[in-house]
Amino acid sequence: MTTVCEYKPGLEGIPVAQSSISYVDGQKGILEYRGIRIEELAAKSTFLETAYLLIWGELPTKEELNKFENDIRYHRRIKYRIRDMMKCFPETGHPMDALQASAAALGLFYSKRALDNPDYIREAVVRLLAKIPTMVAAFKLMRKGNDPVQPNDELDYAANFLYMLNERKPDPLAAKVFDICLTLHAEHTMNASTFSAMVTASTLTDPYAVVASAVGTLAGPLHGGANEEVIDMLEEIGSVEKVRPYLDDCLQYKKKIMGFGHRVYKVKDPRATILQNLAEQMFDKFGHDKYYDIALEMERIVEEKLAHKGIYANVDFYSGLVYRKLGIPSDLFTPIFAIARVAGWLAHWKEQLGENRIFRPTQIYTGFHDEPYIPIAER
Ligand code: SDX
Repeated sequence: MTTVCEYKPGLEGIPVAQSSISYVDGQKGILEYRGIRIEELAAKSTFLETAYLLIWGELPTKEELNKFENDIRYHRRIKYRIRDMMKCFPETGHPMDALQASAAALGLFYSKRALDNPDYIREAVVRLLAKIPTMVAAFKLMRKGNDPVQPNDELDYAANFLYMLNERKPDPLAAKVFDICLTLHAEHTMNASTFSAMVTASTLTDPYAVVASAVGTLAGPLHGGANEEVIDMLEEIGSVEKVRPYLDDCLQYKKKIMGFGHRVYKVKDPRATILQNLAEQMFDKFGHDKYYDIALEMERIVEEKLAHKGIYANVDFYSGLVYRKLGIPSDLFTPIFAIARVAGWLAHWKEQLGENRIFRPTQIYTGFHDEPYIPIAER
């Protein structure tokens, strides 16, 4: 007989898996990937090396990394039939919806589920890491008359994405900053989209369906969608002087302030600190952004008013300012989060393979029993 645990809204504090992939200390503001501090990886690693670490559990040798990078470079292009499908999407559609549909569509071409075959697993990892950025950059296919450029095999992972997006080779600093952003967003223990990926994976479906599930979950404004909302919020506020009245209004009507608060962090998200530094590097080189002043004032006042509740800036607060400076449109901010988080989703998918235990929690029933069926004529 299964013992029923106490009901916790949003599963707060309920462990749903055992994992060695990443660790967060929300009181000390610590994030580690396979035991390595995020600050170390942001400063010394690359996104693909970090993805390898997350998925296979150890840093790759030079040969392993070269092969991984080359395999991903080889698989960057997407099927013409997926490009043609994207051309049928409505122009006003959101790129996250386009990404979820195209990620699921990959399963139409590669869906065999040899989940006990290491080659199949590696192939799925390579294909998803390789093709998701191309699908995100190809969102322009939804805008009539656009035929986005193909991947540039001379460029590394981050530079190639910026090339596909802006149709020109990026500045080396811009490419490096973007690569670090991907590392920062790659993994974060049992967040909502990773949990969604694991529930889907537990039914032994294919990894393309797993990623499509997770993309749909990440899209929400309380999760990955917050980064786009933050920029909208900063633009709505418009000046440093209007920050305090805006926040007073949020607090009065209990409106959530985008980019702040976290289920786990009760101090400033360590990723926000690194992103703030990256933003300042971009401003130093490419010119200041007035919204940064508004953001700084916002962070100062939110700390003044909400620090006692453990509400501080999270990963989504400064990321949008970096992406804007990289020439990325705001409706691609969350798809970029997805590009990075595919590494974490696949790491948890691979770690869970072999568990063969479907996620099937229980509920506390609050309805009626033995109710009569009332014929429609009598209702
Ligand atoms: C990400 O889980 C992860 O790891 C996610 C993530 C990852 O890498 O995967 O880190 C990425 O999703 C970051 C979060 C991005 N979302 C936002 O910035 C949206 C704004 N944030 C809030 O919606 C909220 O903070 C959550 C959703 C992030 C966390 O919500 P919780 O843990 O469920 O907290 P809660 O909603 O129960 O709030 C607790 C209290 C409430 O006040 P009281 O009713 O107790 O008086 O804190 C308040 C809330 O009103 N609060 C906020 C707030 N966040 C919490 N008040 C104002 N603004 C906020 N942002």
